[in-house]
Amino acid sequence: MSDHLPSSRRLKNVTTNSLQFAIVSPTDLPTLVQALQEAHLPDDDVALPGRVFFAFQFDGQHIGYAGLEIYGPDALLRSVLIVPQQRKRGLGSQVVSEVEKLAHRAGIERLHLLTTDQAPFFERIGYVLTQRQLAPADIASTLQFKSLCPSSASYLWKSL
Ligand SMILES: CC(C)(COP(=O)(O)OP(=O)(O)OC[C@H]1O[C@@H](n2cnc3c(N)ncnc32)[C@H](O)[C@@H]1OP(=O)(O)O)[C@@H](O)C(=O)NCCC(=O)NCCS
Repeated sequence: MSDHLPSSRRLKNVTTNSLQFAIVSPTDLPTLVQALQEAHLPDDDVALPGRVFFAFQFDGQHIGYAGLEIYGPDALLRSVLIVPQQRKRGLGSQVVSEVEKLAHRAGIERLHLLTTDQAPFFERIGYVLTQRQLAPADIASTLQFKSLCPSSASYLWKSL
């Protein structure tokens, strides 16, 4: 599924202003899992096929992660995580914007996400709060929708 994304070799140390990112390699997945667990985000399925995760740095310092789970023109935006000491500086918004650009370049038309308590953050950056049952079938069939996120989690989506 990451066929349409630049290869990890090309992505390594890509710089946009002071934001840098690289694809999380299989050997680095345990570090991602630990960070997701600390943030109470789903981690059970990160090693399954069809997911790509990015590790972000700002000014050379690790600041967090974000991931995509791609289903043709639709993708789940997932695992958006800024380390606690770096939050409320605009980095979460920049990370999401960067992933949106990557997704758009990969031919993805819509991003979807579930969140238990960050709906206002995503609404502020253009995501639309929507009834969960209105999600496209591929998205509604994901593990996140079916089992990993509580049914009370909010569903939001954005057209790219
Ligand atoms: C959600 C999350 C990624 C946001 O990251 P962040 O870096 O704090 O995001 P930003 O700084 O861009 O925006 C957060 C808030 O800080 C505010 N902010 C941004 N820059 C600011 C600044 N310089 N000074 C003060 N406040 C600022 C924004 O207005 C925003 O307010 P809002 O949440 O009311 O919309 C982060 O809280 C997080 O990792 N949470 C845990 C994981 C999670 O729940 N992820 C979402 C589900 S996938």
